[in-house]
Amino acid sequence: PKPTDPNAHPGVQIQSPITDYLAGLVAQNSKDNPGANAAYIPELAAVNSDQIGACITTVDGYVYGSGDVGVEFSIQSVSKPFVYALAIEEHGLDWVLDRVDVEPSGEAFNELSLDGKQLPKNPMINAGAMTTHSLIGEGTMTVDERFEHIRKGLSRFAGRELGVDEGSYASELATAYRNFSIAYMLRNYGAIKAEPGDVVKGYTRQCAIQLTAADLATMGATLANGGKQPVTGEQVVSAETVRQVLSVMTTCGMYNEAGHWVCEVGFPGKSGVSGCVLGVLPGNLGMATFSPRLDEAGNSVRGMRMYKQIAKEMVLHMM
Ligand code: DON
Repeated sequence: PKPTDPNAHPGVQIQSPITDYLAGLVAQNSKDNPGANAAYIPELAAVNSDQIGACITTVDGYVYGSGDVGVEFSIQSVSKPFVYALAIEEHGLDWVLDRVDVEPSGEAFNELSLDGKQLPKNPMINAGAMTTHSLIGEGTMTVDERFEHIRKGLSRFAGRELGVDEGSYASELATAYRNFSIAYMLRNYGAIKAEPGDVVKGYTRQCAIQLTAADLATMGATLANGGKQPVTGEQVVSAETVRQVLSVMTTCGMYNEAGHWVCEVGFPGKSGVSGCVLGVLPGNLGMATFSPRLDEAGNSVRGMRMYKQIAKEMVLHMM
């Protein structure tokens, strides 16, 4: 239902029974804090791990949040579905499917995970996401133009200009030996055509795009709304592109926890090692949680828990 508050309008956080519910959710999940911050990116290891927030944006643009929903963090892997959407918009789905497969890898997000045709298994793991990154303006854009196209594209989903967490970028790039290895292997197999070093730098910068849980919930609401940004009214990507993106998020978005996620939460999700988790309930809402400590699969422990709880209590499971 639309909020009755006369000050309520799309894009502005308001007080309502939904906010009260989210406050309870955040409070209940603040009682303990298991897991650990991502250790392989020095800047993320140093983030205050007590932070916790949950935010919902509806497809008509109303924003409800509680906790640390205004704190900026780096988007990390949650950039992957949005850049996949931009690649499909640019080249068409069939062309993109010839470069990146859509099968769950059943392996960690930072494995090479190639299929029988030497293609990365899906666009949500690092190998597939670096390939997808390289597809943007392949053969036509410079490295800087590619990044700027991606930054602008993500900003259109969010409805505001997003910047870059330069500290996170520099810190990850300085220690990105594993992603460099994967990118060189991808180049060896012909999966990427660009210089591997350029791809790692651009992809790492993509992962360092900075935003809040409120921004992320609204980006999710754009996907939930068939690609139309609910506050600006812009059709950012087509409904067909969204269908593909959400399908792949459903099967691959939570890495080797994707099965448990879809059984218990029941709608598409995507996690990032900064501790954010994006959820999209098609036709209804986008949701974002932020809590930095991760489990073994690289998913936010309290974020996963909050999604499982809200899916059950609010009966959000699609099945
Ligand atoms: O490439 C990396 O390893 C990071 N920039 C992103 C990985 C990530 O967020 C995995 N998600 N849970």
